[in-house]
Amino acid sequence: MAEYIIKGGAALSGEVQIHGAKNAVLPVLAAALLVPKSTILNCPKLSDVSVACSILEHLGCTVVRQDDCINVSAAGLTGSEIPEYLMREMRSSVVFLGAIIARCGKARVSMPGGCELGPRPIDLHIKALRKLGAKIEEDHGYLNCSVPDRLRGASISLEFPSVGATENIMLAACTAQGETVIHNPAREPEIVDLAAFLQKAGAKIYIGENGTIYIQGVEKLDSVQHSVISDRIEAATYLCCAAITGGQVLLKKVIPSHMTALLPLMEEAGCRLKVSGDSIYLVAPKRLKAPKFVRTMPYPGFPTDAQSPLMALSCVAEGSSIFVETIFESRYKHVAELARMGAKIKVVGEVAVVEGVPALHGAEVVCTDLRGGACLCCAALAAGGQSRIKDIYHIERGYQDFEHTLKVLGADIVVA
Ligand code: EPZ
Repeated sequence: MAEYIIKGGAALSGEVQIHGAKNAVLPVLAAALLVPKSTILNCPKLSDVSVACSILEHLGCTVVRQDDCINVSAAGLTGSEIPEYLMREMRSSVVFLGAIIARCGKARVSMPGGCELGPRPIDLHIKALRKLGAKIEEDHGYLNCSVPDRLRGASISLEFPSVGATENIMLAACTAQGETVIHNPAREPEIVDLAAFLQKAGAKIYIGENGTIYIQGVEKLDSVQHSVISDRIEAATYLCCAAITGGQVLLKKVIPSHMTALLPLMEEAGCRLKVSGDSIYLVAPKRLKAPKFVRTMPYPGFPTDAQSPLMALSCVAEGSSIFVETIFESRYKHVAELARMGAKIKVVGEVAVVEGVPALHGAEVVCTDLRGGACLCCAALAAGGQSRIKDIYHIERGYQDFEHTLKVLGADIVVA
């Protein structure tokens, strides 16, 4: 299995062009099932995106990828079942459920796989789709879904603003009969981007001031061309890589307004930031100051996906940081690996207290999930000596050309 070998110590410096957002393109690919033809631009080259394209092809769609453009023709849709081997490859495969039910009136999918972030139930998805009129039975790890006549609009209140559940409801409700109102939906930029794709297709979707989503069902949707938003978490990750090495980085093609919860924490850590248009320029201090308190929250709060990259910074900062992970039950699997590099972190439930040390040392570590893997690379860039980072397939799910980008910024990184 491929590994990264990173020799720490170099201060990163240079420019990075941020790619399209993984978490925006995946639900948009599911939405492509609902329209005759889709041209989706600014798509990142990631294994998760390839899995989503394989699911579309398995269902009978034609998928043609050229550079960052993916063309989908769903006219030839024949299937309504996603096999286990595809469902297990990534958690977000569950977001195809709403689109398949809406398009085919039935679906059979196995329970999804995905990152080891604790139990990742889909009860909110199932409850909402049932409210829209879908009959869903669990059958030995599979979900058998059917719609007696047609999905019908409903008022749905989410106990938790689940991103995936919100996306599934939107995809199922666009062509349902009547109005659907989603109370307490997720408000992530990726949700807004999915709504934009669907609106271009003729869906009647309106997002109210307080985030409530109103959908008036229509008979059918039309072909669409759409460019997905840039990846705020990829951007956050490279800011952390530059900051931890005492370097500087100019990010281009970012959307700074999607990063308002992170940027103040980078400044609290002593970084100088210059935001202008679609770029962010960061200069790191010689020694970082520990961000005092970091609590992950649904958007626009601090994103859970940036928790582990930011924790890498805290490990070598002056002072201590308190992290509270409120979104996922077990999103601290990277802590044990950071400890192997000399980090001083105490985890009690959802709280992690990080005591900054003057320096980390290289070690052999294993990626536990996508963002945890990025965190380990970030730490290794600043650690004294060499680190071997295993199971880097996790990282390749969410970061296009990760090793190449770091190399261009001056990192000593090779794939072994
Ligand atoms: C999306 O996952 C993202 N993935 C995640 O990014 C991100 O961390 C997460 O949203 C939160 O922002 C994609 O968009 C592909 P949720 P999702 O449903 O939809 C619980 C990354 O690294 N929950 O908002 O799975 C759930 O267990 C990935 O790019 C239920 O209890 O997130 C979790 O604790 C990781 N029942 C919390 O809600 C449900 O039916 C948030 O889950 C659904 C969710």
